[in-house]
Amino acid sequence: MTLREYPVASVHPDSPMTEEYRSTLLRKLADQARAELVAAHTYSRWVHRTSNPEEKLHLAALAQEETDHWFRAVKLMEELGVPASRVADYQTHDVFIPIVRVLAGRIRWVDLLMMSFLIDHAAYFLVEDFAQSSYAPWAEMSKGILVEEETHSDFGAHFMEVQVEKIGQARVQRALRKWWPVALNMCGPSKSPHNERYLRLGLKTRTNDDRRAAFRDSAEPKIGKLGLEVPRLLRNRYPFF
Ligand SMILES: [Fe+2]
Ligand SMILES: [Fe+2]
Repeated sequence: MTLREYPVASVHPDSPMTEEYRSTLLRKLADQARAELVAAHTYSRWVHRTSNPEEKLHLAALAQEETDHWFRAVKLMEELGVPASRVADYQTHDVFIPIVRVLAGRIRWVDLLMMSFLIDHAAYFLVEDFAQSSYAPWAEMSKGILVEEETHSDFGAHFMEVQVEKIGQARVQRALRKWWPVALNMCGPSKSPHNERYLRLGLKTRTNDDRRAAFRDSAEPKIGKLGLEVPRLLRNRYPFF
């Protein structure tokens, strides 16, 4: 087990930081900013495509809140001396984002709602780690984001229910089959050379597998409640497919 060297909320913007801590913190913040922006852009593109009043309002709220999450991550980086224009330079290489971009490029309405149901739900568990961050402003910011992320996947579950009625269980099940491995992969590889460092620096609190297990424990009953089945995977370990 990795020993956590930095307690929750123990580091502040003016605290002395080792180069390792500062660069790792900036990379993780930049990754969060990117994920929030991908979500904001995906949801906002769909606002004009539904005429259903509840769905339109929900999507607009999602787009606004994800933009706000991105904004807050960018502001934390600015406080550490990185201007908004340079945030992208700090992002790590992540296979997940390009995959979502490709899939999201040809999504249907049911896919979009499935993303809100599953991907936002998986994101919740990542932000849960950040709420215990050793970097105090990030822990504080993440607590606020968590409250909103909870409503995102609750809304997603509600709209999935509507979709099952509207287009039938089989089509929703097919969309679930497509996004389920994406959500599981989003939790990251089982063996990551970086994870030990994130845990030690207090920038994450669980291993990727532990976070994935927490997500599964929460998501699987919700899938069952919709009358859907947890998809059977061809490969039940990372990368899932
Ligand atoms: Fe978010
Ligand atoms: Fe969200």
